[in-house]
Amino acid sequence: MDFSSPIGVFDSGIGGLSVLKQLIRFLPSEKFVYLGDIARVPYGNKSEKIVKQYAIECTKFMLSKEVKLIVVACNTVSSVAIDEVKGIAGEIMVIDMIEPASVAAVRSTRNGNIGIIGTRATIQSYSYPKMIKKIISEYEFNIISKACPLFVPLIEEGLLNHPATKIIADEYLKELKAVNIDTLILGCTHYPLLSQLISEILSGVQLIDTGEQAAVVALRKLAINNLIADKSIPLNNIPEIEFYVTDLPPTFNDIAKLFLGFDIQSPQIVSLGQQ
Ligand code: DGL
Repeated sequence: MDFSSPIGVFDSGIGGLSVLKQLIRFLPSEKFVYLGDIARVPYGNKSEKIVKQYAIECTKFMLSKEVKLIVVACNTVSSVAIDEVKGIAGEIMVIDMIEPASVAAVRSTRNGNIGIIGTRATIQSYSYPKMIKKIISEYEFNIISKACPLFVPLIEEGLLNHPATKIIADEYLKELKAVNIDTLILGCTHYPLLSQLISEILSGVQLIDTGEQAAVVALRKLAINNLIADKSIPLNNIPEIEFYVTDLPPTFNDIAKLFLGFDIQSPQIVSLGQQ
């Protein structure tokens, strides 16, 4: 493994492409390997035990690709299985979604009222409140968490501007609005796609995109460890990305383009648990 090795990015499915998009923005000269465990998505409604098992299999797959850094591009895995991922990754650096976004939220808030939205597994794990407490134990933030399980299917159906999505978003976000949050962590890979709608409902609230914050940390970690790829990339170049999925549903290309902004070159189907 050296600076020319790829960055490994994995998620329960397609949502991690929102994180990959941010990684490409901050690290345009890197090669990437992306794994989406589409056959077993969603992870967000599953038990901790099973998410841990899946996360271990994804991590082993990443290591088999000789990556120089693993980005756990899934808030659910980052919330419940990060110790397992780090345990297997050994010397390979791992970036999760929770810590970078928590640091950003602590920096952003002025009134101390921080909202967190995510899958059921992420919210029930208390990963964000625990991390915020770890970052600043002296200050008592008012943290309001809300699981928004219907957002993932609505986004995957492409209903970003649909009235049904607006009704559901109003319902999910009303408690956060009532307590006057000034910062909201979008604690799920899919939620950046609803940024506009969420900003309309919670006007003036600073939204924290977990993928964006993780990409900033990835850039810093690679730079500190002299692991940035050194080739010069022409502007508008689409980076070298190997895509792996555990299933390829017919809707894959459309949803992937929604998240990433460009067409994905022929993903390969793989079986996990055999590394
Ligand atoms: N990628 C997941 C997350 O960020 C959302 C989809 C799922 O539930 O697996 O939590």
